This record gives sequence, structure tokens and C-alpha cells, in this order.
Amino acid sequence: MRGCPCVMLRKEGTSYNQNKQMTQSQNQQANDHEVKMRAEHVDFYYGKHQTLFDINLEFRDREVTALIGPSGCGKSTFLRTLSRMNELLGDTTTTGKITLDEEDVYERDFDVVQLRQRVGMVFQRPTPFPKSVFENVAYGLRVAGIKNRSIIADKVEESLRRAALWEEVKDRLNDSALGLSGGQQQRLCIARALAVEPEVLLMDEPCSALDPIATQRLEESILELRENLCIIIVTHNMQQAARVSDKTAFFFMGKLIEFDTTDTIFNHAHEQRTRDYVNGNFG
Ligand SMILES: Nc1ncnc2c1ncn2[C@@H]1O[C@H](COP(=O)(O)OP(=O)(O)OP(=O)(O)O)[C@@H](O)[C@H]1O
Ligand SMILES: [Mg+2]
Repeated sequence: MRGCPCVMLRKEGTSYNQNKQMTQSQNQQANDHEVKMRAEHVDFYYGKHQTLFDINLEFRDREVTALIGPSGCGKSTFLRTLSRMNELLGDTTTTGKITLDEEDVYERDFDVVQLRQRVGMVFQRPTPFPKSVFENVAYGLRVAGIKNRSIIADKVEESLRRAALWEEVKDRLNDSALGLSGGQQQRLCIARALAVEPEVLLMDEPCSALDPIATQRLEESILELRENLCIIIVTHNMQQAARVSDKTAFFFMGKLIEFDTTDTIFNHAHEQRTRDYVNGNFG
């Protein structure tokens, strides 16, 4: 397994906004954000119905990219193409190329199990297993064949810390995960994804069921996680996209209309449709 430094959460005494500015300027200093994933000419069909049209996008290491666009425009479908999750739905076709570290993930001999470990996914609604908090996070480690109890315990703690949940659950690790609040369950699912040390984290509207405080916590976690990961997040919340993302991609009716820095998309987008959408004129 790759090494995975445990990220300390927000430094004491810094505000949420200071924290974002700090990590942004740190990010600017690091110019080596390599392309982690790339979509080239991706088309996608449910049966015969084409849903995505010629999508070209790239996602860089240690950056957050937001996918925005009106309901039904194909954001979730596109996100799922990145980890080949649509294949689980049956009659679907994906064409074009999707690479992870320049390797084509749709190549016949690409290991899909390994792909889904390297590219973790957090869904719109929290999906904890009906197991204890501890076992939810340990699950992927056990599936990977790790048996050493202290390695598992260390990894569970590290993952819960990175998901900003440890302090809230450290005394109830053996309680059922179903007894956690919605926001806690969502962070538990993030911890579960992090435990297997993904390189890319896909998040499909992870805050849609959360209250403002839980949302803020999760946004703080995203900014911390960005230090080590490539993160792609679907959101309907324009303020959230502006707060957490470095780049933003605007989708409309299955097409990528515009992709640029978040600042450009929100303040001086080139396309009229993008400007209308981010200004709330439709969608
Ligand atoms: N399993 C499926 N089978 C057939 N069509 C589907 C399936 N899932 C989605 N679609 C269709 O594909 C199109 C894109 O859907 P998708 O869920 O990707 O949109 P979205 O941008 O994520 O929307 P939302 O913001 O509402 O989540 C829609 O027309 C949808 O009805
Ligand atoms: Mg969706």
C-alpha cells in the first residue's frame, strides 16, 4: 500500500476562511499538480440513449474540481464513468478514453477492483453498512486481506481523523454506524473510502442531506484532504463550488460547456449559458 501521511485537521486559531486562503497560497506555490485523471472524447449511452457527448476534461492531483449543471445534465453519470461504476447498471456503453496516471482504465486487463480502490466514491446519501463504526472503516482493509489488528486499528483512527470525525466517535467505535447523525454518517463514508488510501475521491453531492454546520465541517475536510488527493465533487450549491474548488466544469444537456478555474467560471465565464447558470438565471 502507498504511504499516506495523516493530515492534521484545521490548525487551532485559524478561521475557516483563513484556512482556505492558507491552503490556496500553499497550492499556488506548488506548481507540480500533475494530471491524475483525464477524459478524452467520452460518450456514454444508457441502452441506446446517449447521455454524454464528447466530454474532454482533466483532473489534477491535489486540486478540487467541481462539476456543476442543471438536474439531469449528466454530472453523476460522468462521475461514475471515472470509476467504471456505470458498468454495474447493465446495458450501458462508454466510448472514448479515461486515464488514471495516463493508463487507460477501460483497457480489458485493467483491474477494476484496484481501480475502485484507487478512485474512491462517496454518494449523495450516506451509505453506512449495518455494522459498527469501527467495522465500517475497517471493511476495505479486511477485504484487502489485512489481518493485523493494530495495523487495522491505526488505519481506522487515521481515516476517521482525516474525515474530521474521530473526536465525535472515538468513544463509540463499537456502536452501530446507523446511530450516527446524517452528517456523521457521511463523514464515516468518507473515512471508509479513505481507509484504502485512494488517490482520487469522487463525491456526488455529499452535502445535500446535511445541515449547515455539518456541511461546513465537510467542506473543511475537503480542503484538508486536497493536500494529498485529487477530488472531484458534484454540487448544486454554487457557494459551495466557489468555496471548495480550484476548477469548475459546467455541464449542460450531456455536454461540457466550459471548464476553467473556479474564479473564471464564477466571475468572468466565456459562455453566456455558464454565466446564466452561475447567476441563477436557470437550472
Ligand atoms: N440508470 C439509468 N438508466 C437510464 N437513464 C438514466 C439512468 N441514470 C440516469 N439516467 C438519465 O441520464 C441523464 C443524466 O442523469 P444524471 O443522473 O447523470 O444527471 P445529474 O446531472 O447527476 O442530475 P442531478 O443533478 O439531478 O443529480 C438523465 O436524463 C437521467 O434520466
Ligand atoms: Mg446526480
